[in-house]
Amino acid sequence: MKIKPVRGTHDFFGQQVLKYRTIQDLISHYSAIYNFEEIITPIFESTELFKKPLGENSDVVLKEMYTFKDKNEDLLTLRPEYTTPMIRSAISNNLLEKLPKKLYGIGPMFRRERPQKGRYRQFNQINFEILGTHDISADIDLIILANNFLKNLLPQKKINLFINSLGDKNTLSNFRVSLGNYFKQNKEKLTEESQSKIVSNPIRILDSKDPTDIEINLNAPKISDFYSNEAKEKFSNIQTILKDMSVDFSIDMNLVRGLDYYCHTVFEFKTLDLGSQDTLIGGGRYDGLTKLLGGPDIPGVGWAGGIERLIMLMDDIKPLQKTIHLIIINESFKEYGLKVANQLRQKNINIHFDYKYNLKKSLSNANQLGARYAIIIGEEEVKKNLCTLKDLNKNVQEKKTIENIIKDLS
Ligand code: HAM
Repeated sequence: MKIKPVRGTHDFFGQQVLKYRTIQDLISHYSAIYNFEEIITPIFESTELFKKPLGENSDVVLKEMYTFKDKNEDLLTLRPEYTTPMIRSAISNNLLEKLPKKLYGIGPMFRRERPQKGRYRQFNQINFEILGTHDISADIDLIILANNFLKNLLPQKKINLFINSLGDKNTLSNFRVSLGNYFKQNKEKLTEESQSKIVSNPIRILDSKDPTDIEINLNAPKISDFYSNEAKEKFSNIQTILKDMSVDFSIDMNLVRGLDYYCHTVFEFKTLDLGSQDTLIGGGRYDGLTKLLGGPDIPGVGWAGGIERLIMLMDDIKPLQKTIHLIIINESFKEYGLKVANQLRQKNINIHFDYKYNLKKSLSNANQLGARYAIIIGEEEVKKNLCTLKDLNKNVQEKKTIENIIKDLS
């Protein structure tokens, strides 16, 4: 029986694992210098946690959640995103007493989307969230953190930052009505999928990648016409500071994000190298979300990045060289070999234990693996309690005690 991976899932191995670890290390580095604390939450949560906050009419809730009934009839969902679980966890564990709270997390998310290049049903995200401040410095800090992280990870790639403001709650509700009316008037010209969103979620039509919808979107009402003075000022200040800090960006009035909880600043970092699944990092402000989840009425802002998409853009990484190849020329010296390997490994020396027990085959193996040294164990070595250290580059060798080998190699 040959069992295939589930559609939309994938395994990480070889280069992908090296790249995944590189991303993890870089994230640990940035979380330390920006003072974010790591949080690890369960992979499944009560379905309730996601339904309302992400939007009952959002694609994620309508079509993409992996929801199932547990044996005792509890409705559970594999987390489709990390912002709501992180806030749920901060509320459950009383982490919101001292604000702002800066949290980050890495892990798998699940969405039952149509799989394609860069889009999976299980994928990994990096998330950074700042809870408890209205200050636009938090928005800017997070945008710059993402910018620095991407520049560091993918120095050779051109990545574009797009920003927009969704204004406050009144902005969005007035905009939604006006947009709905406009799309109703142009219903016949829209694609079937967009027509189905006119009443439930007209803002999502602005996201459509279909050329006929794009044409109609060009003349749609603009969200900026509905900003309050405060929202206008916030957005303008953010732009000024980003410019002052030499962060390149473009304003995209149609950038509305896929989840319902956003307000004010929203942003996305995109690449031209991945086809249609081009967003590497997306995020924004979600000022009413913590209250909606039963916590205090505090604002929040954050972003998430897709690890699979980042990995697809990374150059290959040279694996760590397995530097020392342990060659035991006859199986009867195995025990001595195991002891030598153990002594060296306890001194943090990387040993490749060759199970061939054949000098010629093991030397050829060592060459193939690019080993720098070989330690050879034969009859004489065992008798005299020594080992032969062979420099494979210089092709010279010498019998030594283990203590001297450790000294030479450390
Ligand atoms: P999102 O835009 O849904 O936002 O996802 C963030 C990133 O996750 C995307 O830009 C993309 O790189 C990656 N991603 C999403 N879906 C998939 C998929 N099916 N396959 C591969 N990668 C994917 C959020 O999830 C928000 N929680 C972000 C946020 C944090 N907003 C505020 N704080």
